[in-house]
Amino acid sequence: MRSALYLTPLLAAIRVTTAQHVHYAIPEVEENVQSMMGEYHQYAHYPGPSPTYWQHPKPRPTKPVPPPPANQCDYWLADIKHQGIAAFNPDPSNYTVFRNVKDFGAKGDGVTDDTTAINNAISSGGRCAPGTCASTTLTPAVVYFPPGVYMINSSIIDYYYTQLIGNPNCIPTIRAFATFSGDLGLGLIDGDQYQAGGVLGFGATNVFWRQIRNFIIDMTLIPATSSATGIHWPTAQATSIQNVVFEMSSANGTQHQGLFIESGSGGFVNDLIFNGGLNGGVFGNQQFTMRNLTFNNVVTAIDQNWDWGWTYKSININNCSVGLDMSSGGATAQAVGSVTFIDSSISNTPIGIKTAHGSDSQPPAGGSLILENVALSNVPIAVQGADNATALEGTPTNTHIAAWGEGHAYTPDGPSVFEGSFAPADRPASLLRGDGKYYERSKPQYQQYPVSSFLSARDFGATGNGHTDDTAALQRAITTARAQHRILFLDQGDYLVSSTLYVPSGSRIVGESYSVILSYGEYFNNINKPQPVVRLGLSGESGSLEMSDIIVSTQGQQRGAVLFEYNLNSPSSSPSGLWDVHARIGGFAGSDLQLAECPTTPNTTVTATNLNQDCIAAFLTMHITPSSSGLYLENNWLWVADHDVEDPLLTQITIYAGRGLFVESAAGTFWLVGTAVEHHTKYQYQFADTKNAFAGQIQTETPYYQPNPSAPLPFPYVASLNDPQFPNTTAVDGNVTIPNADAWGLRIVDSSNILIYGAGLYSFFDNYNTTCSDQGNGEVCQDRIAEIVASSGITLYNLNTVGTHYQLEVDGVNVAYYADNLNGFIDTVALFKSSS
Ligand SMILES: *[C@@H]1O[C@H](CO)[C@@H](O)[C@H](O)[C@H]1NC(C)=O
Ligand SMILES: *[C@@H]1O[C@H](CO)[C@@H](O)[C@H](O)[C@H]1NC(C)=O
Ligand SMILES: *[C@@H]1O[C@H](CO)[C@@H](O)[C@H](O)[C@H]1NC(C)=O
Ligand SMILES: *[C@@H]1O[C@H](CO)[C@@H](O)[C@H](O)[C@H]1NC(C)=O
Ligand SMILES: *[C@@H]1O[C@H](CO)[C@@H](O)[C@H](O)[C@H]1NC(C)=O
Ligand SMILES: *[C@@H]1O[C@H](CO)[C@@H](O)[C@H](O)[C@H]1NC(C)=O
Ligand SMILES: *[C@@H]1O[C@H](CO)[C@@H](O)[C@H](O)[C@H]1NC(C)=O
Ligand SMILES: *[C@@H]1O[C@H](CO)[C@@H](O)[C@H](O)[C@H]1NC(C)=O
Ligand SMILES: *[C@@H]1O[C@H](CO)[C@@H](O)[C@H](O)[C@H]1NC(C)=O
Ligand SMILES: *[C@@H]1O[C@H](CO)[C@@H](O)[C@H](O)[C@H]1NC(C)=O
Repeated sequence: MRSALYLTPLLAAIRVTTAQHVHYAIPEVEENVQSMMGEYHQYAHYPGPSPTYWQHPKPRPTKPVPPPPANQCDYWLADIKHQGIAAFNPDPSNYTVFRNVKDFGAKGDGVTDDTTAINNAISSGGRCAPGTCASTTLTPAVVYFPPGVYMINSSIIDYYYTQLIGNPNCIPTIRAFATFSGDLGLGLIDGDQYQAGGVLGFGATNVFWRQIRNFIIDMTLIPATSSATGIHWPTAQATSIQNVVFEMSSANGTQHQGLFIESGSGGFVNDLIFNGGLNGGVFGNQQFTMRNLTFNNVVTAIDQNWDWGWTYKSININNCSVGLDMSSGGATAQAVGSVTFIDSSISNTPIGIKTAHGSDSQPPAGGSLILENVALSNVPIAVQGADNATALEGTPTNTHIAAWGEGHAYTPDGPSVFEGSFAPADRPASLLRGDGKYYERSKPQYQQYPVSSFLSARDFGATGNGHTDDTAALQRAITTARAQHRILFLDQGDYLVSSTLYVPSGSRIVGESYSVILSYGEYFNNINKPQPVVRLGLSGESGSLEMSDIIVSTQGQQRGAVLFEYNLNSPSSSPSGLWDVHARIGGFAGSDLQLAECPTTPNTTVTATNLNQDCIAAFLTMHITPSSSGLYLENNWLWVADHDVEDPLLTQITIYAGRGLFVESAAGTFWLVGTAVEHHTKYQYQFADTKNAFAGQIQTETPYYQPNPSAPLPFPYVASLNDPQFPNTTAVDGNVTIPNADAWGLRIVDSSNILIYGAGLYSFFDNYNTTCSDQGNGEVCQDRIAEIVASSGITLYNLNTVGTHYQLEVDGVNVAYYADNLNGFIDTVALFKSSS
């Protein structure tokens, strides 16, 4: 049994001063705090930077050392004035975005049952409950947990569009009583409560825009024999769990499981620790990216139930029986499509990775696995295959797997069935940290800064009310925050802008439950003169910037809107970062692009003349321009709506946005960690004249309406943007006619060293009809979905496609035919390497 209070290694000297409040203090750190506070007070009018830095604003050599808050547990988000509003809520003046669970009666004293108080904090205000509400953006909420130990006797029920945030300086514990019962739900936190009849309260693939961060989920009082769950998290895009520790029973025979994801279309999690338990994670979902997870003393660290594609990075597995078990379904019916597992270590664990893969396993490309840069220490069997045969020997001492895999390979021709070592991707040094791993950086929460280091957009007159033009006020807020080296807090709201917002280098902007910057008007409506909504640095400008928890959107017809334009030249050692920054185009309240305006028209042949011009909503979603470099993207979803999220039936709609994520930078150096781009007309991802990019897992969907109309409509071809040109013919396979002017999922043109660690490129529809994909194999919706042209040093790991005749085309030649790589609902190429 663990001690009553969990001690983080960092706060090893925690002491409890009262029964009511947990006070954390470390003598040495307190001393430090004192001296730094002295310096801070001296320059209190410019909190944050040192005076030297203030006098020489550029270049920016190092980040100013922030003065720590006066009390180690202070957290700006708790203390800042709460001015967030839900702009399009029917009654915004009576709707509260920010909720502190203690204001709802939670005690956090380690004794009182806080279940009801916490659930009231989440549910109050007519919010979107599982089982009664399919989805909505009208009721965003931040539910904040001050330091403390919150006892619960049944599940915390999470609602739609909810951020559950603990104090990151003194992380709160959510601890189940020994009498905990799952009467309300599944898990200490239930992210998607099962309803009568065994259906999930929210459709797992429609759960967007939610987070959990900074908690200790303590299950240790629950009897080991009880199959308790920490967090139940069926989920889709634009969701995250960050900085959570799962404490489970380590008793012999423990049945505890930490994080349970059985379905959905995710998703991203990072910085999780799992201690004890039968399973740390039990994971099943179409695709996911998981980074920086540690598993200690778990029986099976990860039980991979099913997937299409999964990217694991920086995983540490210690003292478990099995590291990753992906043998679900067995050799005759492998349920796991593919796994990409990199930059990780496994120690003191008898079986590193358990698969059901073998020479006769089914489906043929099932259980595709890629390992790269994996260190083993006392792992006797590195990879186990079908019938418990050893596929890759481990060692009782130390070994390093440079690259090893199994599945179907094209290097560049194929398919060849392979199982064994191969040459790892040639990693560009600029993408790496000192230890050879790809650079990674978690979303900053700015917890070390006092509240005086923040400015609120509201205090500059930005209303965020969805009705007033906030361009000037918001620009003033951004500029002032930068000049004062403060962090701009963009309180929840919808900020209308009618011309470009310029975000200079050095800016740090953080939203609240996804604050929305909403473009409107004629400035953004010229299809021949596109304009950025948010311009991140000017061409030629150096330095870095950071943004998180923000959505950029458009309102009404915006034929020339470029939602993000990134121009900044950031050093690879301190790149710019966008974390949980998303695009949302149409399909939500305030967009004027909902069911009433943009219904689907599958029964009408759509032409240039009858196309619904009012629903042309963006020109290009994210443009990473030629002179830029050094951008770290993590957990970003660039979404053109396929349905109206406010509609109870989630009815489909038709929205046109020309281009998805376009990277054209000769200097390169980009990280795309857990990104997705969906439903753009010409392409989702396009790299042109670019070098040095890491991307994994990437995920795309073709517009559901295509080929009615085909990809050339309604955006004219622009040669200078390297737009693809589409044939006006159809392809034929046997007696099946296949559209071949549908959007590309991925294009790589005139580029080098583009390294894709897991891709899911999906085409589910033909003019809103899923027959072309719902048979799994033997039917296709579009001819081709990925192409590589005149490029070198291209590696694709676990390319998974749905509904696509050819999975990959290289220099105009079809390379991977779907029927050669059958993998259940998907088709999988485990390994592709370009010829040079
Ligand atoms: C404000 O919201 C609360 C809770 O949703 C509701 O009970 C109350 O009637 C509302 N007040 C007004 C004036 O609408
Ligand atoms: C928890 O609930 C169970 C049954 O609902 C009850 O028997 C038990 O006393 C409760 N425990 C606490 C600590 O409130
Ligand atoms: C764990 O329990 C099993 C079955 O009850 C038993 O065979 C085994 O010896 C136990 N292991 C330890 C380490 O106690
Ligand atoms: C990984 O997560 C731990 C917390 O679980 C955190 O302390 C550490 O900084 C993270 N590492 C990276 C590289 O993000
Ligand atoms: C390894 O795991 C076992 C079983 O959970 C536990 O008894 C043992 O203490 C662990 N060893 C270390 C060094 O943590
Ligand atoms: C493989 O190993 C597991 C666990 O030890 C065992 O239950 C199973 O029977 C074995 N299967 C075969 C085919 O040997
Ligand atoms: C298209 O026509 C079919 C068959 O007549 C009908 O079932 C469907 O509702 C129509 N769809 C729309 C969006 O009008
Ligand atoms: C198809 O494209 C070709 C070449 O671009 C053009 O000559 C032809 O007229 C087009 N056909 C149709 C039906 O649009
Ligand atoms: C297409 O061809 C397949 C195999 O040759 C055949 O089974 C199928 O019936 C044909 N379908 C149609 C619609 O003709
Ligand atoms: C969908 O496509 C299939 C195959 O072409 C066709 O049989 C079916 O009628 C279509 N469904 C609708 C609703 O149009």
